[in-house]
Amino acid sequence: MSVNPACHPLRGDTLITNVHLACMHPDQPPAFENAAVLIERGQIVWIGQVSELSQVSADETFDGQGQWLLPGFIDCHTHLVFGGSRADEFEQRLHGASYQQIAAAGGGILSTVRATREASEDQLFASAKQRALTLIAQGVTSIEVKSGYGLDTATELKMLRVARRLGDELPLNIACTFLGAHALLTDFAGNAQGYIDLVCEQMLPKAVEAGLVDAVDVFCESVGFTLAQTRQVFETAKGLGVPVKCHAEQLSNLGGSALTAEFAGLSVDHIEFLDEAGVKAIAASGTVATLLPGAFYFLRETQLPPIDLLRANGVPMALATDYNPGTSPLCNLLLMLNMSCTLFRLTPTEALQGVTCHAARALGWQQRVGSIAVGYQADLCLWDIAQPNQLAYQFGDLRPSARWFKGQLQDL
Ligand code: NIG
Ligand code: FE
Repeated sequence: MSVNPACHPLRGDTLITNVHLACMHPDQPPAFENAAVLIERGQIVWIGQVSELSQVSADETFDGQGQWLLPGFIDCHTHLVFGGSRADEFEQRLHGASYQQIAAAGGGILSTVRATREASEDQLFASAKQRALTLIAQGVTSIEVKSGYGLDTATELKMLRVARRLGDELPLNIACTFLGAHALLTDFAGNAQGYIDLVCEQMLPKAVEAGLVDAVDVFCESVGFTLAQTRQVFETAKGLGVPVKCHAEQLSNLGGSALTAEFAGLSVDHIEFLDEAGVKAIAASGTVATLLPGAFYFLRETQLPPIDLLRANGVPMALATDYNPGTSPLCNLLLMLNMSCTLFRLTPTEALQGVTCHAARALGWQQRVGSIAVGYQADLCLWDIAQPNQLAYQFGDLRPSARWFKGQLQDL
């Protein structure tokens, strides 16, 4: 019997059928009801209506029973690898000390640096793995992990190796960000320039050479590094062919965002103090604004990021945990969905875009993950919810009912 090739169904290894899709692709309709997704070798190869299933065939079919399928979530800003705890500082802050005062007294980031230097690579991996598993259970399939608690070449590389290993051993895409310019150690007191020279001449080139750097970040702030020092690190990154991002405008307006825009940076993060000129600059460069409501909440900040200006200028807004021991010991991306709506007045759709397509863009991965679209990696989560807005509304009792990473159905 001859087969007409035009009628031959498209083959895949997995068909997920009977689902509603929240595609989270900027160019696609927000919802696609009664739909099916065909996966072949880890990639989405077809999306259609249940009524069009005769066009496809698959080795295995998964019945989604009318639940919602979303892209796996992306936590695009974390400091997941660190030693120690800062619970005592939390208590000091409850007695009136400010984050800046604690940092000036040698605590803060520097206390985590001490603990991270002392921890072995395996110890750091074990604690980071637990945190990553916690995020995975919430529907996360991609995580950005920063260095920045080493502040010497050996420890920065140790942290980045731990981050890479998370991606090797867990069902996760890991983006490694070098944040050597995170804080100034007391050994370099009064010599910030000397430290930045060390970052640019030794630490960053070595980390890049070891294949451990997907992006470079700087803490551009009065308690971090100046604009000129940030520029020097960005110039070095550019010379090494690595994209940049910035902890910018968190506690004051130094202009780190406009500088990041000048380097066509991936994202500017925190940005509570970003002004209109800064918003225009990142709008023009296509840089993502990453909002971190966990740190805003934990530091009891009152200055809101300029959400209306970001919206009016069409700046993509991402959302992340900023998971770290000092300003956001909050290992929960679903909590950030809710907080971004309650604290920053994002809509649930904006919040969901913030942990999918726009978070992907903040990593330079917008062609690969963060959307349900043909050609994208099949990182998907199924949710037993009435509508996607439930994910931003409700907190504490929602977990995905199924999870695929690179097309493979995972044990939950
Ligand atoms: O993203 N702002 C700088 N870095 C972290 C805080 C790190 C810490 O306090 O340990 C942040 O908020
Ligand atoms: Fe951060």
